[in-house]
Amino acid sequence: MASTKEKLIHNVVCEPAASQNKITIVGVGAVGMACAISVLQKDLADELALVDVIEDKLKGEMMDLQHGSLFLKTPKIVSGKDYSVTANSKLVVVTAGARQQEGESRLNLVQRNVNIFKFIIPNIVKYSPNCILLIVSNPVDVLTYVAWKISGFPKHRVIGSGCNLDSARFRYLMGEKLGIHPLSCHGWVIGEHGDSSVPVWSGVNVAGVCLKNLNPDMGADNDKENWKEVHKQVVDRYRICTDLTH
Ligand SMILES: NC(=O)c1ccc[n+]([C@@H]2O[C@H](COP(=O)([O-])OP(=O)(O)OC[C@H]3O[C@@H](n4cnc5c(N)ncnc54)[C@H](O)[C@@H]3O)[C@@H](O)[C@H]2O)c1
Repeated sequence: MASTKEKLIHNVVCEPAASQNKITIVGVGAVGMACAISVLQKDLADELALVDVIEDKLKGEMMDLQHGSLFLKTPKIVSGKDYSVTANSKLVVVTAGARQQEGESRLNLVQRNVNIFKFIIPNIVKYSPNCILLIVSNPVDVLTYVAWKISGFPKHRVIGSGCNLDSARFRYLMGEKLGIHPLSCHGWVIGEHGDSSVPVWSGVNVAGVCLKNLNPDMGADNDKENWKEVHKQVVDRYRICTDLTH
């Protein structure tokens, strides 16, 4: 006897083709899930795949997203420890990483994350040889280089999140100081993400008005308005978030 589904739906064409715009997120911690929500809410993918090593957490996160489908447009959300779920991704965002243990040096953490990448990256490449890799795990600039080397991808297909977060924080704090929305505050933080990042004071502007022309001491030690503090707060926030103080 035909099932309810068979009675309801008569397929007039064969199975739909594979997804065209699949995005994978590796690591479903705080950052991975923030990326997942952003991808879904901006309607960027027709399939979202999640990967992590902690299976119950992975399944729970996938189910929460699937159950929110009523409010989303992405028709397929999958997850798995096995990288076959990531097959044919256009973009793979890597947020997986070990947490720094008490007393552990930054160098040791880097080595542990490099070891994690030695497993993750070849698996991504195996199932999505034409994807773009977006690396977020810290230390992001080092791990982006590592991902590029392991993947064998051309450099334009391995992108690190770099100082995007630093620049976003900078623009928010600049907006706070001026009482202006961050969208109208412009400025770049460049260099390595984190401690050694560099604010480009000469480029800081609001609606094209260069603030250094209004305050030539901007960013310098003798600046009476202490704009240097804006960048210091960016770095302090990085330190708190990563706890990379050793
Ligand atoms: N680039 C940036 O601007 C930026 C900003 C914030 C955080 N980060 C970095 O992003 C990373 C993630 O941060 P978080 O707060 O989400 O950490 P988290 O500890 O909450 O999540 C990390 C996840 O990675 C998973 N994981 C560990 N090993 C794995 C493996 N081999 N394969 C798959 N998954 C694995 C863990 O199970 C965990 O779910 C950290 O390295 C953090 O420093 C970068």
